[in-house]
Amino acid sequence: MKILIVVGTRPEAIKMAPVILALKKEPWANVRVLATAQHRNMLDQVNEFFGIDPDIDLNIMRPNQALTTLTARLLPELDDVLQAEKPDAVLVQGDTTTVMTVALACFYHHIPVGHVEAGLRTWDMQNPFPEEANRVITGKFARWHFAPTEGSRQNLLKEGVADSKIIVTGNTVIDALLMSASKDLQLGIELDSNKRLVLVTSHRRENFGEPFRNICRALQTLAEKNPDVQFLYPVHPNPNVKDVAHEFLAGLHNFTLCEPLDYASFIAAMKRAYIILTDSGGIQEEAPALGKPVLVLRDETERPEAVEQGVVKLVGPNYDAIVQETQCLLDDEFAYRAMARGISPYGDGKAAERIVQVLRKYFT
Ligand code: UD1
Ligand code: UDP
Repeated sequence: MKILIVVGTRPEAIKMAPVILALKKEPWANVRVLATAQHRNMLDQVNEFFGIDPDIDLNIMRPNQALTTLTARLLPELDDVLQAEKPDAVLVQGDTTTVMTVALACFYHHIPVGHVEAGLRTWDMQNPFPEEANRVITGKFARWHFAPTEGSRQNLLKEGVADSKIIVTGNTVIDALLMSASKDLQLGIELDSNKRLVLVTSHRRENFGEPFRNICRALQTLAEKNPDVQFLYPVHPNPNVKDVAHEFLAGLHNFTLCEPLDYASFIAAMKRAYIILTDSGGIQEEAPALGKPVLVLRDETERPEAVEQGVVKLVGPNYDAIVQETQCLLDDEFAYRAMARGISPYGDGKAAERIVQVLRKYFT
């Protein structure tokens, strides 16, 4: 059985790696890996870490690509791949433009799609944008919905998806995190070991413009108010992010801006961090498992489980809330300890195994 597994961006590559590696051990499965390369260097870093060498690479990324042109350029390329490969099933992961266009192309080609990390919802198409729409559209076409949590299963049932097509697996992000534990994790950036570290990432499209400038202003204030704390921000290469981050934050003596870290270095950074400020989806899932409090730079999240457990808090792209909540965690040890509990609401490290089990049962 030919299974085509698609990855486009950094988080897809991280979360799909455990599935690719597990499926490659199955004698019945002929695994082919397609990289759309919606991301280039950020995707390559991850594949290299996991020892994955894509069989097909569309090299689609262009600097500052627009959603429409990215989608339009992907579809005919996917047409060619599906025609040539004729896979028995295709697996996609998450909510990117790659995922949505692959699901649509597979629908046109009558090829069943397995959606890994299905069913996350905010119920607001503008937040996260365009990811909520991408995930909803992909869900319309999926044959297998691999839902990470019971909450995501419930979301799918609410949309009328048949129970028999939903499998609660946990999130493969935790499989990947556990797999990395056996590797040598070096941060590779000099930090003052006496100072607490605030780790920052931000890249969401709905924050571009004034909301992202507010985030940067808040970070600037925090760095100035806390000279005894160091800040590390691996900056996403999207020019809408990179240029503004440098405008506000370069030159602060306790603020380090760097290129995106490779996965191993980023895990080392999360482990070293005291607090994490982020609008990333994946980091909201990883950080609680590492016992690190997360303040989310978004108004809404499709990952409510850790918020409900009190280890992740939404602060939005809101200057006052970011400054106040971060300062509170830095100053109030009691508040800090309440959030710094190691729990893993998103997975137990066996998600890939459960996904493979479903496919094995179906195809053999
Ligand atoms: C994409 C996903 C988002 C995901 C994020 C993970 C969509 C619409 N967005 O957002 O859901 O959370 O990836 O990081 O699918 N770039 C580089 N090198 C890279 C990667 C990106 O230079 O390796 C720059 C390019 O200028 C590129 C731009 O970043 O055009 C934007 O990349 P794109 O994939 O369109 O959007 P992201 O903001 O990365
Ligand atoms: N990550 C990384 N290097 C970095 C920042 C993040 O390897 O400099 C990893 C992080 O551990 C997580 C994933 O990238 O697994 C999250 O990707 P991103 O924030 O780009 O996308 P999202 O999860 O928001 O879709």
